[in-house]
Amino acid sequence: MTSRNADTSTPVLEPIASRWSPRAFDETHAFAPGALRSLLEAARWAPSARNTQPWRFIVAHRGSTSFARITDALVESNANWARRASALIVNTVRLEDEDGSPLPWSVYDLGQAVSSYSLQARSEGLYVHQMGGFDHDAIRESFNLERHIEPISVAAVGVLGDPAILTERQQSRETAPRARHELGEIVLVDD
Ligand SMILES: Cc1cc2nc3c(=O)[nH]c(=O)nc-3n(C[C@H](O)[C@H](O)[C@H](O)COP(=O)(O)O)c2cc1C
Repeated sequence: MTSRNADTSTPVLEPIASRWSPRAFDETHAFAPGALRSLLEAARWAPSARNTQPWRFIVAHRGSTSFARITDALVESNANWARRASALIVNTVRLEDEDGSPLPWSVYDLGQAVSSYSLQARSEGLYVHQMGGFDHDAIRESFNLERHIEPISVAAVGVLGDPAILTERQQSRETAPRARHELGEIVLVDD
């Protein structure tokens, strides 16, 4: 496959340029025990409002009961490729502090933690594909989540497989040019 690196207008860090969200994961790849520790450590050191660290992760390796529970909760259009990933991570967040006060920045904080582990993954030759398409109640029930913990996204983690394993539609998405707004559209003021 040709490179799917970002066509950046100026050089950026390599893991940022080479990160993208594949669907063709290699189902013959498995993580050794502890292999995801560096990703979780990267998440752990993300910044958060008042250093509340509201992120909580459910980590499941392919073949485990937890992995099956997560794939069961994914919408079919995600489950049919994500089931080949080496691991799935449910990214959840505390919505309230221990004393019941709201944590208004917690979803924002979680996003930064997921971004950190996605880039750590890339620097180790791994890929992460985040998904919002899943049944929140199913995850909540399967993992008996406390009321103040909300599942926000699921991430597939693994190594690249052959795109030929995908459906034709998925293959064309896998190889389509990557697009972004121009810098001029996203920078409202640059004085
Ligand atoms: C919060 C969030 C939810 C997403 N949900 C899905 C999803 O349900 N299914 C899917 O295939 N991709 C999903 N994606 C992946 C995006 O479509 C993808 O990141 C975007 O198209 C940009 O492509 P790139 O990551 O390859 O640069 C999601 C990404 C994020 C950050």
